[in-house]
Amino acid sequence: MPDYLSTAPYRGTRDFLPAEMSVRTQVFERLYEVIERYGFQRYDAPLLEPAEIYEAKSGDEIANKQLYTLTDHGGRRLALRPEMTPSVARMIAGNAGSLQLPVRWYSHPNCHRYERPQRGRVREHWQINVDIFGSEAPSCEIEMFELIDDMMRSLGADDDMFVIRVNDRKLLAAALTGVVGVSEDQLPGVFGLVDRWEKYETDALAADAAELGLDDKQFARLGESLAAGSALLDELPAEVKQESNLMPVLDSVVGQLVRFDPFIVRGLAYYTSTVFEVFDTSGENNRALFGGGRYSDLAGLFTAKRIPGIGFGMGDVTLFDFLHTHGLAPAPRSEVDVVVLPVTGELAEAARSVARELRSAGLRASVPLEPRKLGKELGRADRAGARAVVIIGAEEWAAGTVTVRDLATGEQHQAPTGSVAATTRPIVED
Ligand code: HAM
Repeated sequence: MPDYLSTAPYRGTRDFLPAEMSVRTQVFERLYEVIERYGFQRYDAPLLEPAEIYEAKSGDEIANKQLYTLTDHGGRRLALRPEMTPSVARMIAGNAGSLQLPVRWYSHPNCHRYERPQRGRVREHWQINVDIFGSEAPSCEIEMFELIDDMMRSLGADDDMFVIRVNDRKLLAAALTGVVGVSEDQLPGVFGLVDRWEKYETDALAADAAELGLDDKQFARLGESLAAGSALLDELPAEVKQESNLMPVLDSVVGQLVRFDPFIVRGLAYYTSTVFEVFDTSGENNRALFGGGRYSDLAGLFTAKRIPGIGFGMGDVTLFDFLHTHGLAPAPRSEVDVVVLPVTGELAEAARSVARELRSAGLRASVPLEPRKLGKELGRADRAGARAVVIIGAEEWAAGTVTVRDLATGEQHQAPTGSVAATTRPIVED
């Protein structure tokens, strides 16, 4: 036996066969449509980027543990993008002179991270990125949350299926320093602790807290503050709250779409204030469905100009886990609407001309590539999900007609050539 290569894709990556691709395409197209309704424009960027654009501001986990790096033939250190935000910040900074800021941009890149594959986590995922650049107004936050809510609803999700949890790193920092007594240099470590809080057992958290230099009292106060939810806001000074874009959001109608939650920190290092994550309420998917936040100085990697950004990345894996859990994934589309079947090989050109007529009328029509018996072809057309077949017989063709059969009901009628599309369309659209 020859030693064949494996047909499995590389661990943590996926092949998408046409039926699955059809489901994905329907979902993504719905989302693109909603995003574009808000005036976002689509962009794209290369999969390969200089490794240092992630090493500077994305944080230790991405830069040191998850980055796929390579050296090109010219000795340049490159990385497969693990996320899109540094790329889009680079593009915005590089084109700031010609852009009319603020801009609303979206993209749908594949991203690579070296992670242990598990539920909700793979090594190549697709992430819809939606960002606004060039504005610090709270209306950006309002628009983000409204858009997220619309995107979820466009997929059939109800209020009770998901929750948008929001926080502001500046408010959290004020609570940690003011209420818990954390020092400025302990802050980054305690942010990490808060980020892990819901995933770890109390003992492990207590050990981490001790290592960060928190005493038992502070650890207890930290737990109470986080559990306080929006009541924590009452303990913060008015001047700190005034600075936060979240306060006007929570006071607006959009405030009803979100829940203030001190636990939300997010892993990436570049977020500066607002942070948010969307969760499935079912309990089956306890990982965040997707998330994002505000980053005031990521463009500062590339330019002296200050160009703030805010946005989010919605991953395909967690999204489809959500859709499957709630029975919201659409069915794959059929392969074609109509199959045109010549009864003999000599009628192949006649069949092609009818298929042409159907296609130019906007219907999806195919002709068998290799002639088989009519019975077999009818079976194949049915399995391909065609709603109708057009049968081309020699005598009928000579007389200027064809037979159109409804595959669901078995009913059939004669149609004059030249008006096949008109009589087939009602069957397809039924
Ligand atoms: P992130 O939280 O690292 O944020 O990723 C955003 C989303 O991408 C996650 O919530 C998840 O849906 C998906 N995702 C991330 N890593 C994986 C993985 N290994 N497997 C499957 N899905 C994954 C960012 O990447 C930010 N750049 C998002 C952003 C855009 N912030 C502002 N603008």
